[in-house]
Amino acid sequence: MIYPIVMYGDPVLRKRAQDIDQSADVKTLAQDMFETMHAAQGIGLAAPQIGKPIRMFVVDGTSLDDEPGMEDFKKVFINAEIVEEDEDHVDMEEGCLSIPNIREKVGRPDAIRIKYFDEDWNAHDEKYEGMQARIIQHEYDHIEGVLFIDYLSPLKKRLLKGKLNDISRGDVNTEYRIAAPLRK
Ligand code: NI
Repeated sequence: MIYPIVMYGDPVLRKRAQDIDQSADVKTLAQDMFETMHAAQGIGLAAPQIGKPIRMFVVDGTSLDDEPGMEDFKKVFINAEIVEEDEDHVDMEEGCLSIPNIREKVGRPDAIRIKYFDEDWNAHDEKYEGMQARIIQHEYDHIEGVLFIDYLSPLKKRLLKGKLNDISRGDVNTEYRIAAPLRK
């Protein structure tokens, strides 16, 4: 099932998402999230972006075959917790399916350690770096109610204000179905 993707301005994107109970069957939702993400040509999608305030996100970097280590980077992260961050920050351009047609440079730690459960409720404790760490941190932010534009300078934010207002009204071109909070 393909969900519409929630646009900037919806309060669900600003909530700290709730832990998921370990008795929950998350496999169908994981499948739906992959399907929704692929339909929108995304490489990451968090549950709040389909209107669900729960701590789950999916990533699939397998289309980025010029990046090292991406061949099998297709994963589900449940109840994730970043437990270590590298001190070195790197700048990289990011975009977000909930903030279409805006791309900006964001500085983030180059490496992280993260604990999480997969869709079979197996526990993991893993380290990631580079592009993989980048994608994970962007999605992790979503379950913390944080968006990549939050890292921009006040000036940049002011310059984007009009575009962001348009997005929250659904006045934006996308190849995928959207749910805009202020659409008339
Ligand atoms: Ni995003």
